[in-house]
Amino acid sequence: MSKKIIFSAIQPTGNLHIGNYLGAVKNWLELQKNEDYECIFCIADYHAMTGDKTAQDRRDQIILMAAELLALGIDPKKSTFFVQSHVPEHTELAWIFNTVTPIAELERMTQYKDKSQKQIKNINTGLLTYPTLMAADILLYHTDLVPVGEDQIQHVELTRDIGRWFNNKYAENYFGEVKPLLTEIPRVKSLLEPTKKMSKSYGLNHVLELADEPEVVLAKLKKAVTASEPGEKSPGVENLLLLLKNFGDETVYNKFVEAEKNGTIKYGELKATLAQIIGDYFADFRENRTQYLEDRSYLATVLADGEERASKIAKATMKEIRHLIGIR
Ligand code: TYM
Repeated sequence: MSKKIIFSAIQPTGNLHIGNYLGAVKNWLELQKNEDYECIFCIADYHAMTGDKTAQDRRDQIILMAAELLALGIDPKKSTFFVQSHVPEHTELAWIFNTVTPIAELERMTQYKDKSQKQIKNINTGLLTYPTLMAADILLYHTDLVPVGEDQIQHVELTRDIGRWFNNKYAENYFGEVKPLLTEIPRVKSLLEPTKKMSKSYGLNHVLELADEPEVVLAKLKKAVTASEPGEKSPGVENLLLLLKNFGDETVYNKFVEAEKNGTIKYGELKATLAQIIGDYFADFRENRTQYLEDRSYLATVLADGEERASKIAKATMKEIRHLIGIR
């Protein structure tokens, strides 16, 4: 049986946060260990261009993302790990997908609406056509499964539609049906506004970054929103308990859940416990990250090797597609 293809990507927009980790990257680390899957992971630098960063920010952040993912355990021997812009077939296929995708379908994307509101002075065309590039990323490798957080499900579903629209026009069954793959926590919430997803775009105190030193984790958690009365139902407390469930051991988790139920929970204690556990959990990561960041030539070698492997597949797919659409 041939292996199932796993593809996922992440924008290089600064340090990873625990939303990225629990919603997506943790799954990548599991999947790459499984012999049934062929994993391809990509740093989506062209997607990040829809934001407001400078060229220098971009240069630094691509390196940073590579270092952080390797520090977490992405293994370039097991997974193909590369930078999107190093394989120009991604943008080539995105253009072709633009020509089969109705504008109205792009306009209804929640992220397009959200981002257009957040960066009112920079509502560029890339914000709108972002999902056709994402569909190209995914379909270029004839992907079966896309491990992502909840906020990306809509884009993966649109990818499936784009594949179908292409198939209807040019070649029946050329692209298969892609599916999103979720973790147990597909949506980690913001610390300060727990009705929203955790995202750096609301501000750094909304997120716990994996690179945060323990005292920073504690300071951020101290500010995290809880309930006004112990035991009162609150999305903030629910979010903190979910984090505890994921990073802590079962006994500690059960103790706090019980205390929450009977109204004896002390939020200060919950936050201190959680800070300690998260600080410890990412201690090795912080050390590895520093080492990788000091070894730029190793990072460059890894990414060049990934580029070569990804290019082979991308070139073969594009050769077929150019033929199917009649330009060759
Ligand atoms: P990005 O860079 O915003 O996020 C990377 C991954 O982290 C997940 N994530 C979360 N999961 C749970 N809770 C949260 N608060 C949270 N915040 C982020 C995201 O769902 C994502 O899985 N467009 C994509 C990058 C991309 C891509 C692709 C993904 C480009 N091409 C092809 C899959 C396949 C993005 O901006 O993710």
